[in-house]
Amino acid sequence: MNIAQVRQHTPACSELIHFNNAGASLSPLPVHQRLLQHLTLEQRIGGYEAAQQEVAAVENFYSAFARLLHCRPAEIAYAESATHAWNAAFHAIALQPGQRILTGQSEYSSNYLAFLQMARLKGLQIDVIPNDEHGRICLDRLAAAISDDVGLIALTHVPSQSGVIHPAAAVGRLARANGILYLLDACQSAGQIELDVDALGCDMLTGTGRKYLRGPRGTGFLYVRSEALPRLQPDRIDFHSARWTAEDQFEFRNDARRFESWECSVAGKIALGVAADYATALGMQNIEQTVSDLASIFRQQLRRLPGIRVHESGPSLSGIVTFSKNSESAESLQRRLRDSSINTSVTRLSGNLLDLPRRGLGDINRASVHYFNTEEEIGRFCQVLQST
Ligand SMILES: Cc1ncc(COP(=O)(O)O)c(C=O)c1O
Repeated sequence: MNIAQVRQHTPACSELIHFNNAGASLSPLPVHQRLLQHLTLEQRIGGYEAAQQEVAAVENFYSAFARLLHCRPAEIAYAESATHAWNAAFHAIALQPGQRILTGQSEYSSNYLAFLQMARLKGLQIDVIPNDEHGRICLDRLAAAISDDVGLIALTHVPSQSGVIHPAAAVGRLARANGILYLLDACQSAGQIELDVDALGCDMLTGTGRKYLRGPRGTGFLYVRSEALPRLQPDRIDFHSARWTAEDQFEFRNDARRFESWECSVAGKIALGVAADYATALGMQNIEQTVSDLASIFRQQLRRLPGIRVHESGPSLSGIVTFSKNSESAESLQRRLRDSSINTSVTRLSGNLLDLPRRGLGDINRASVHYFNTEEEIGRFCQVLQST
């Protein structure tokens, strides 16, 4: 990793310390410039005309994500956010009353709300599989919960409220062995961890642009395995996702774009493709190793500080570091860090009613590192942390 170059591509590094990459990372210059370039073209020649002129760049979005996820461009759809992508996939599954959804204790809040809504509307059952002693989904409990009435396994790969990485590929093997659809929320893992959809065994995978992929805000993506497509009927339709074949007939597209809407931010789509290419060019294994090493140094340093509790341990951890300071509320600490030009976030109990109470936690602080962060920044962070 050429740290000097990636920091040069990230001008804010000279102004502040950005440890909020799990919230929204900083876009590198090539991504930012590509976004602006297309917006300027739209202003100069018109939005439809600009899209026509940039067909190749728009198509690159699909091939860039195919390279990143090791799948085919036809298996990729653009979305406005991870939540849009996830809802498009979830609501396309024909779940029947009485069927069960198996999910993990760290499932993302909005996903779980969608389960609750559908449980209420359709009489589905939600089974939350507890975590094991390392804070990861317990595979034995998951295997034991599988039966004929399971309609979906849904997992959040890297939770937003803890630094663990769930064993998504092992879950995928169980799903495949039992012919159950598997929806993987890779919102925090995309751009941070090497993702290979065949190794993961997922049928659908969702993510956002603005986090570890360092794309623009308001962008996201959906992967749908071609073989799963016949089992998935989108709950929204327009003349982009479907063809009007006769006055009283229509057909959905035969690829993942059946989940898209016609209207979208073309600039965002082009720039998100550039962000995926940027990550691929740096090398996903390289990124994964750099982030993991930095987060591990971060946790070691935090554990040495009196009055600080780090909330994750175990063998497989992400770039998300969660902690609390005994003598200071999460919110006040975040504000104080911000006053010293250090960006972090607070993970709130109110948005994590499954996971945080089970771990005996309330609001907690979250510092999330990326490959452009440095050990010096961690040192400075620890100084500020201890300065009251
Ligand atoms: C694990 C996880 N899934 C989904 C989302 C939702 O992403 P978006 O805000 O792009 O819809 C988030 C956002 O924080 C997340 O952390």
